[in-house]
Amino acid sequence: MSRIAYVNGRYRPHRDAAVHIEDRGYQFADGVYEVCEVRDGHLVDEPRHMARLNRSLSELDIRSPMPAGALSFVLRETARRNRVHDGLVYVQVTRGVAPRDHAFPGGEVAPAVVVTAKPINRQIGEANAETGFKVVTVPDNRWDRVDIKSVSLLPNVMAKQAAKLKGANEAWYVDADGFVTEGSSTNAWIVDGEGRLITRSAEHGILRGITRAVVFDLARRDGLEIVERAFTVDEAKQAREAFVTAASTVVMPVVQIDETPIGNGAPGSIATELREKFHTMVHLGTN
Ligand code: PDD
Repeated sequence: MSRIAYVNGRYRPHRDAAVHIEDRGYQFADGVYEVCEVRDGHLVDEPRHMARLNRSLSELDIRSPMPAGALSFVLRETARRNRVHDGLVYVQVTRGVAPRDHAFPGGEVAPAVVVTAKPINRQIGEANAETGFKVVTVPDNRWDRVDIKSVSLLPNVMAKQAAKLKGANEAWYVDADGFVTEGSSTNAWIVDGEGRLITRSAEHGILRGITRAVVFDLARRDGLEIVERAFTVDEAKQAREAFVTAASTVVMPVVQIDETPIGNGAPGSIATELREKFHTMVHLGTN
């Protein structure tokens, strides 16, 4: 079955789906995106993803491409047309098409929208969670506005590739003071000796992850303590557990950082339990 993409008002097979060569996303990475999990045919936490998309758009002064209800329909319809029962929906909005010039185009340039959907094999995710992720650390070389989910992801691409070349699954960025910020496409967490969950504050230096927010909800419900503070690589290596969160991985235990095994080198019980309970806490759309 050919995959179907939504591109600026039309559903097209991928082989025919294209954007203009002067799309500002293509030329300047002048755009934003969201990745939303699809689980049992439902969009997971769509309202929060759409709220973050709107915030990213407004921080960059990009117009909203369509009313919220219409975009919600397109996300569902793209998942449906691709028969995605479990997987991910990707939505990208750029400032639109205009002759190349760094400053914003004048006049009424319509934002450009692409939505794709792909299935994910749930068993592979579960198998990964049983093995756990290996993480490498890399200097954080991103711009200051990582709170905006921008498609300008070159540092993230380079970090993930560095991890891959070392046989790892994720790279954790480390700031100039030696503190972990977040992963190349995930938020970073550790669990201390008292069972407290520690993750960097989202006030600065990281993306305010939706999966991260759900873990906050879960912790509140189940009486786990969360401490929002930065932690060093050394502290992480000595932690009882470590894990990452993202729509694409949900809660994923980390078993190794650089060459150091975490805890006993197996996925931690708190991370595993959070993973198991995760979907009891999320908002599931009605499609
Ligand atoms: N990435 N930090 C970064 C840098 C990310 O790119 C992501 C998500 C997260 C986690 O956010 P959330 O829980 O809302 O997915 C944190 C997506 C999945 C991606 O780029 O594919």
